[in-house]
Amino acid sequence: MAGGGIVEGGGTRAHLYEGRTTSFVVIACIVAASGGLIFGYDIGISGGVTSMDDFLVKFFPVVERHKNQSTKDQDYCKYDNQKLTAFTSSLYLAGLVASFGASGVTRRFGRRPSILFGGFSFLIGAALNAAAVNLPMLILGRIMLGVGIGFGNQLIVQAVPLYLSEMAPAKLRGGLNIMFQFAINIGILAANLINYGTAKIKPWGWRLSLGLAAVPAALMFVGGLFLPETSNSLIERGHLEKGRALLVKVRGTTNVDAEFEDMVDASKKANEVKHPFRNILKKRNRPQLVMATFIPFFQQLTGINAIMFYAPVLFKTIGFGGDASLYSAVITGAVNALAIFVSIFAVDRLGRRILFLQAGVQMFISQMVIGIILGEKFGGSKQMSKDFGVFVVIVICIYVAGFAWSWGPLGWLVPSEIFPLETRSAGQSITVSVNLFFTFVIAQSFLAMLCHFKYGIFLFFAGWVVVMSIFVYLFLPETKSVPIEEMINVWRKHWFWKQIIPAIDLYNGDEKLDWHFQSKDYAENQTVQLSGSGFNKEHM
Ligand code: BGC
Repeated sequence: MAGGGIVEGGGTRAHLYEGRTTSFVVIACIVAASGGLIFGYDIGISGGVTSMDDFLVKFFPVVERHKNQSTKDQDYCKYDNQKLTAFTSSLYLAGLVASFGASGVTRRFGRRPSILFGGFSFLIGAALNAAAVNLPMLILGRIMLGVGIGFGNQLIVQAVPLYLSEMAPAKLRGGLNIMFQFAINIGILAANLINYGTAKIKPWGWRLSLGLAAVPAALMFVGGLFLPETSNSLIERGHLEKGRALLVKVRGTTNVDAEFEDMVDASKKANEVKHPFRNILKKRNRPQLVMATFIPFFQQLTGINAIMFYAPVLFKTIGFGGDASLYSAVITGAVNALAIFVSIFAVDRLGRRILFLQAGVQMFISQMVIGIILGEKFGGSKQMSKDFGVFVVIVICIYVAGFAWSWGPLGWLVPSEIFPLETRSAGQSITVSVNLFFTFVIAQSFLAMLCHFKYGIFLFFAGWVVVMSIFVYLFLPETKSVPIEEMINVWRKHWFWKQIIPAIDLYNGDEKLDWHFQSKDYAENQTVQLSGSGFNKEHM
């Protein structure tokens, strides 16, 4: 049976599924992915604002004074201030706290209800920030934006990737899902451009930057109202007819029986699962659990948000003027938004692994080069020349491009496509929580790490890139073109995971029965029968 991937053994009917990429699929995906815009805007906006002197004078006079008086050996420490970083990071911590329990809401009410509250919270947050007269108001505004992410996360980081993966035909799943990351990147770029413009409006340009967060918030709110549920979610909540009707519309054919019945079967199984979080800890879900935890962790350890959050501050730290810092951030933002097309093109043709591995090499080399240049040419009595400054921006762009076609989009795509229905929502919650937590950690600690590690911070991230590339090489099987419902097979064929998960759990995962199937011969025999449509050697 498909849909849940819980019970296999020749039962899958995925090869019988019919459907084309209807305009409905495309529009629904575009509307859904627009949720990424607001996530991106909030990522991109804080760094530029933080680097504006008017903003610093008003809220962080200590940083402003310190920055102007810093001595040579404090070159890397100009902006090191925990309250300043709390302005950026508080959003992610609030988002994390607010999103606990989000999976339960989704299971009971579907993917939409929290969006209204999320949208409302975003609007309040944007208003508080734009009108802020003191630090508490500013931080409270950021916290409200975070609460918006936490609740709206049912649409934004939680549901959108899931939604895109569930809606998309297997062969196009990667490319369509990446629309989410594309939206994030457009949000970041828009924020970089707006900061570049508003920095010239003195002394209140920063208010405009922060207040404009209301635009994507409103977009999300209205978009959320018009967004259809997914068939899976409707069926899971017992609205069988509605689920079927939606499937017919989405697939563009009335011949949806096989897929519909599989979804119904799967949702029965999913509803029988009373404790998805306990379930996810079972041995048979181990590979997915490991991926759902490590992929977002590694994504943040690439160091990308050192650039996305703090590029203008970083560029100012190494001696650029205010204007140059902000347009350099626009350049890295534009590279981030454009390079993603490589991934949209390649992900369903070449696969996920090759992108991860190629980009790993690229990111490692560029981070080493940045670290070495900064070490040689900046700090102490050394002031960086303009030529080297330009070179650093170019190398940062090469690094960002690598991220933009690998860990950026795949950090959301892979976790959203590997779980069976029974644990999919819970699995996605874990991914989101881990992502938000480490986003918070990097946002809060980067400027302090820059101050203490100096140029070594880039070597530190380069080291992590090596670790994560080895992890992908050894443990992540290829998921390209595998129907979500058949995904379980990729683990069963994987050299490492096949030793971890029970060979076959024909009895709905009752591991007490697994001893029946421990025999190697039996397992291999079954694996032969398992190879169904869309699954071939390449997925080993
Ligand atoms: C990450 C963000 C990051 C962004 C950059 C996303 O996938 O989750 O933390 O800022 O990519 O494009």
